[in-house]
Amino acid sequence: MEGDVDSLRYNELVERALGRIRPIGMEPYLDLGSETRSGTRMNREYMDSISIEMRILHSKPASTAAKLFGRDLTAPIVASALCESRILKRLGPWTTPYLEQIAKGLAEAGSMMSTGDVQHDELARIVEQGAPVIHIVKPYADESRIHGHLESARSLGCVAIGMDIDAMYLEKAWDEVPGPAYLGYQSAEQIARYVKATPLPFVIKGVLSVQDATAARDLGAAAIVVSSHGGETIDFTTPVLELLPAIRKAVPEMTILVDSGFRRGSDAFKALALGADGVGLGTQLVVACAAAGSDGVRRMMHLLQEELERVMCLTGFQSVSAVEPSVLHLPR
Ligand SMILES: Cc1cc2nc3c(=O)[nH]c(=O)nc-3n(C[C@H](O)[C@H](O)[C@H](O)COP(=O)(O)O)c2cc1C
Repeated sequence: MEGDVDSLRYNELVERALGRIRPIGMEPYLDLGSETRSGTRMNREYMDSISIEMRILHSKPASTAAKLFGRDLTAPIVASALCESRILKRLGPWTTPYLEQIAKGLAEAGSMMSTGDVQHDELARIVEQGAPVIHIVKPYADESRIHGHLESARSLGCVAIGMDIDAMYLEKAWDEVPGPAYLGYQSAEQIARYVKATPLPFVIKGVLSVQDATAARDLGAAAIVVSSHGGETIDFTTPVLELLPAIRKAVPEMTILVDSGFRRGSDAFKALALGADGVGLGTQLVVACAAAGSDGVRRMMHLLQEELERVMCLTGFQSVSAVEPSVLHLPR
């Protein structure tokens, strides 16, 4: 049945996933967000309210090729930090664990994986799939645990290590009790210690202000992820694309990834035009994996890369580095 995955269109791939997720009652888990979920809604509304003009005459075929953390990628669309998925767990049992399937699909598509709350052995199996891996360590209350992760990422050959600072007051889906309880507050001094303790580029994930972007730079981070953690931090978070231009201006030398709410190639294009070096996917990879495991992930990444390439060509940009914001029309 999975043999035809490479010919599925976007909606067919998503429908195949929903056809598996709906019967187990897990569709609502595709749309998480804290409390009223207003942050998730406002984020999507802002993204949708940005329009793209076309510049076709004199345009040339485009290439989406990009480099992140020294690695060549088919496109600057990569995984966001992933760990356990309630949806994929319930869809199991999986003969190959689902995070390894996602990593394999990303490797086959020439993309990059990112891990969240996974431990050494699982991280090792994910790295073995062949995609470059960014490991985002959780803000564990126990600092020695964090240093263990810094060492795991280094010894296993991850391309970067980081921390999702927005989880230090725990994550919150809807009105659930925030968790997991083993996370804890981290001071700026602690984060500076982690940056110094690793030879890998350090990524601060969960930046949603110019203040945090410049603070991340001053603490020695090489990169940030502008993110509202897919809506699971606080309610009413500012849309990521609304903040991105000011953050890019404030830290021109940093690598900037952005995630939260990205679903299509045109979404990624908007982020690149507004200053991102790369775009991260969370939920979309769960959907792709639910549809057809690693084959579904590979197919989704190809579809999004093709969409991005098409938008680039029809807006007159031949390369990712050439994409700039004058082609966008932002809401007032
Ligand atoms: C199944 C799943 C597991 C996740 N695990 C982590 C994690 O361990 N650490 C982390 O920083 N973010 C984690 N995230 C959040 C993503 O890295 C990312 O910020 C978010 O999914 C982006 O929004 P999107 O789902 O709309 O793409 C997870 C997301 C999903 C869907």
